[in-house]
Amino acid sequence: MKGVILAGGHGTRLMPLTKTVNKHLLPVYNRPMIYYPIETLTKAGIKEILIVTGSDHAEGFSKQLGNGKEFGCNFTYELQDSAAGIADALRLAEDFADGEKIVVILGDNIFEDDISKYVKEFEKGNDEAAIFLKEVPDPHRFGVPELQGEKVLGIEEKPKKPKSNFAIVGLYMYDEKVFDIIKNLKPSARGEYEITDVNNAYLKKGKMKAVRLKGFWTDAGTFESLYRAAQLVKEKEDKKS
Ligand code: DAU
Repeated sequence: MKGVILAGGHGTRLMPLTKTVNKHLLPVYNRPMIYYPIETLTKAGIKEILIVTGSDHAEGFSKQLGNGKEFGCNFTYELQDSAAGIADALRLAEDFADGEKIVVILGDNIFEDDISKYVKEFEKGNDEAAIFLKEVPDPHRFGVPELQGEKVLGIEEKPKKPKSNFAIVGLYMYDEKVFDIIKNLKPSARGEYEITDVNNAYLKKGKMKAVRLKGFWTDAGTFESLYRAAQLVKEKEDKKS
């Protein structure tokens, strides 16, 4: 399967750190942020990776990442010219996907789980989409599922009154129909093409799998979560040595 890393947006919540450095190149403990999603994909055997960047300090990406050789994969780059949302960034992956199933990961998400098993299952299985859930103390910051046991009934983006304590994390698997769904999306109240709307479209069709992650997960897009991400990575490194 092919992989897509979405690393557009302005990183406004991390100003002034993002004034001259792209958010995804900021350090998380001992590596640039984007190394973590790259490793999550390459560890799962994904060798073809599209990186969608924003125009803010985009030159840093090719300098830092190159063609992918150092990571044992091939990188292709696309530029999202306005930060019109996650689904808008994913739209740029249509030619790259070329009709195949894809794994999509957000450039500021850090996962402990090895996703190999989920990638293999999705590749061979009949599900048209897969989303991943993690229990969090602050669900209002994320896409939040309404749950009935294991079943997801619906997803709300950043709800004021979350219907569960789970976040839909920034890891998604889609079949080729995702691009038709994106073409029919309308911008949300905050003016973005929302990935939550894409997921709700699959949910309605009843063809989406929802998996609960076991290891730690965090985003790194706020001062609080960037600090937390570094702590989690350090704790894991310390356990290894
Ligand atoms: O971290 C998981 C959460 O990510 C999900 O629970 C939410 O449903 C999802 O909407 C998203 O929420 P955030 O508000 O945290 O997303 P943010 O705007 O911080 O963007 C996260 C990453 O997505 C960012 O590091 C790069 C990519 N992105 C974002 C935008 C807005 C793009 O590539 N292009 C964009 O236009």
